[in-house]
Order: sequence, then C-alpha cells, then structure tokens
Amino acid sequence: MSEENKVAVITGAGRGIGASAGVRLLNGGFTVYFTDMNLERTEEFVASLGDHKGRAFALQIQVTDDKSVDTAMRLVGEKHGKIDLLINNAGITNQGPTQDIATADWQQLIDIHLGGTFRCSRAAFPYLRAANGAAIVNVSSIAGRLGMPIRASYCAAKAGIEGFGRSLATEWAEYGIRVNAVAPGYVMTDLVQKDLKNGLVSQEVLGNRISLKRFATPEEIAEVMFFLGTKASSYMTGQVLNVDGGLSIDLNPGNTSALTKKN
Ligand SMILES: NC(=O)c1ccc[n+]([C@@H]2O[C@H](COP(=O)([O-])OP(=O)(O)OC[C@H]3O[C@@H](n4cnc5c(N)ncnc54)[C@H](O)[C@@H]3O)[C@@H](O)[C@H]2O)c1
Repeated sequence: MSEENKVAVITGAGRGIGASAGVRLLNGGFTVYFTDMNLERTEEFVASLGDHKGRAFALQIQVTDDKSVDTAMRLVGEKHGKIDLLINNAGITNQGPTQDIATADWQQLIDIHLGGTFRCSRAAFPYLRAANGAAIVNVSSIAGRLGMPIRASYCAAKAGIEGFGRSLATEWAEYGIRVNAVAPGYVMTDLVQKDLKNGLVSQEVLGNRISLKRFATPEEIAEVMFFLGTKASSYMTGQVLNVDGGLSIDLNPGNTSALTKKN
C-alpha cells in the first residue's frame, strides 16, 4: 500500500464517482473521509466497506455553506495535521432552455460545482500546505469542454472549474500543492440513470458516438483520480484529463467502418 499514512477528503462521496474514488483510495492505502450532504446514505456506504473500517469515515458537508465546509476540513485537518488529497467531486445536473432558467437555479448549480470547489480548496489550504506535497483533483466534465444544449449552467460551471484549477495550480505550486482535473464523458451513475430515464440521454445514440462504444464505469474514473492524486503524476499540474472513451476526439462518429471497408 504505497499511500499509507496519507489522508484524503472527497466531496459528494455518498454514491457514484465519489464513492468509487474513495474505494480506490482505500485500496491504495489512504485514510479516506467520504463527505456528502446526505450523511445517512454516506454512513450506509461506509458501513458496507467492512474490510476498511478504521480508515474510512463518513462526514457531512454542504459545499455551498462556508461554515459546513470549514468545519469538515478543520475536523480532518486537525485530527491528522494535514490533508494529502482533496477531491472536489460534489455536483448536480440541471437542464432546460437557457431563456427559461430561473436565476436561483442558475446560482444554485454554479455555487455547488464552482463555489464548492473554491470553498473546499480554500478551507483545506492550511492542511494541504502542511502535507508536504499535496494534490487537489477537481471534477470537470466533457460538458466543460464541448457545448451542450439545455445545459448552460452545467457547461459554464465545469468550464469555470477548469479555469479556477489552472489559476490555483500556478498560485499554490510554491506550497507543493498540485491541482489537476478529470473530465469524464458519460459515466453510469444515478445522475446519468436519471437522464436516461427521462430521455435526455440515449444510450444508443451515445454508444454510437463514443469510440469505445460504451459508458464508463465509476471505477474507471476513480482510477484516473487516483493517478492524479498520487505521486505517479508528480510532474503534472494545471491539467485536465479527458476520460470519455473517445467521445471528444471523433469528428465523424460512426463512420469508421464505412471508410475502412472501401479501402
Ligand atoms: N455521471 C457522469 O456521467 C458524469 C460525467 C461528467 C462529470 N460528472 C461529475 O462527476 C461528479 C459526480 O457525479 P456522479 O455521477 O457520481 O453523481 P451522483 O449524483 O451519483 O453523486 C453526486 C453526490 O454529490 C452529492 N452532492 C450534491 N450536491 C451536494 C452539495 N451541495 N454538498 C455536498 N454534497 C452534494 C450528492 O448527495 C451525491 O451523493 C459531479 O461533479 C458530476 O458533475 C459526472
């Protein structure tokens, strides 16, 4: 276990990608704080990790609230004297024509994703600095890099997270803190299941557009988060890694076989 004695905090870790990231970190030797606004769900999840008792903790956090964020980071930071890795993962989706978005809904989404990423990073700073080589992994999305109709606030928030991360990487490098991000494509979590059910995402259409012809598993995103959060990526900072099965690199999706058959 290469990361023994290292401490990680993940937001939005009660389920989905955040929960998988926590499991990957536990398997790598980290002590992991699974934080989420839904404490009950998170406690249940942590309780299900039988073998990892003693290194896995559930903690409530509301990433839109200064006090809640400060309290959670202080609790972890003072107990261990440091935080080695912060994963800013908490998020929601929202959709609707931009002309109809209520200001409150716009502000809520931006404040969870972008505000939460800022707030958690700020509150964790003294403990990240104390870690002597800490990392932040932010969670963008392919929607932060490509346009998407009826998702203006989500696309804006994710693009904002990338800009914030680049700025922070330049600013906190002198404290030994690296800041990178992962930009997943479609990952099979509750968040995407909801969109599949209400018809906003079609597995068939996306399967044809994704070079690897399938959605990601949360574990595949967690693996890249582990890479970005540990010394395997020690010379990387300010970067965003697309983990999208090729969704963002194909100008002519679905046409490959037609062209190869001709030659
Ligand atoms: N699933 C995908 O296809 C996909 C693709 C790209 C990016 N992402 C991003 O990955 C991250 C995780 O997504 P997921 O699919 O695992 O979602 P999810 O809905 O399964 O899990 C998100 C978790 O965040 C928590 N959360 C939401 N708002 C919070 C708040 N204000 N404070 C604290 N916790 C809060 C929820 O309770 C939930 O447990 C999000 O940032 C999302 O935008 C997901």
